[in-house]
Amino acid sequence: CHTPLILPSLLAADFANVASEVKRAEDAGAKWLHLDVMDGNFVDNISFGPAMVQAVRKHTEMFLDVHLMIHRPDHYLDRFVKAGANNISIHVEAEYNTDVETTLKRIRSSGVQAGLVLNPATPFEAVKPYLGMIDLLLIMTVVPGFGGQAFMEAETMPKLLEAKKYRDTHNLRYHLEVDGGIYVNTAPIAKRHGANLFVCGTSAYGPPDMKVAMEGLAAAVS
Ligand code: DX5
Ligand code: ZN
Repeated sequence: CHTPLILPSLLAADFANVASEVKRAEDAGAKWLHLDVMDGNFVDNISFGPAMVQAVRKHTEMFLDVHLMIHRPDHYLDRFVKAGANNISIHVEAEYNTDVETTLKRIRSSGVQAGLVLNPATPFEAVKPYLGMIDLLLIMTVVPGFGGQAFMEAETMPKLLEAKKYRDTHNLRYHLEVDGGIYVNTAPIAKRHGANLFVCGTSAYGPPDMKVAMEGLAAAVS
């Protein structure tokens, strides 16, 4: 089902207090936690790798949604599976030792959900061949690499709607996720265009009371 969910992004948390930041998200009502893995190559920033996913896993039962902003995700895949990821999303624009299709199939055969991601500049056509093999399609609403950027409405919302219409007319099931610049004012726009998973970094972890922030975001998409 496609019930709306707010996913806090750990990228906006205090990295010196990860265990309590994970607990803060859980106590605020989060069911899924979003983890942004950046390699300093596919994107212009370095965040964390499988060791962080494994450390987080020890502190929570939340569903761990791992967003790989890295080249050669197929080379690193098994380490993220072993670390305890529940969903692994790969970018269609990344370089592969094998290819996107082989990697998606490997993710699923590892017993983990498979996600595919497109950058704002990438057309929907680029992911069409893979839509029958994924659990989640992530439409980036900023150029990935950093938290705190502005929602790119004009560049991404038509594509999101296209992905929703395509899913519904082809009897497919993938979740539609948005990531970047999601706040109480932008989340409803993404919802109207078909999103049901809303990644919230700054808007969830930024305010002093995360529970109030999460409730506000949930109300905005209910
Ligand atoms: C962007 C990351 C996002 C980021 C979102 O490169 O993929 O998940 O944490 O941060 P906000 O919500 O602050 O735009
Ligand atoms: Zn992300």
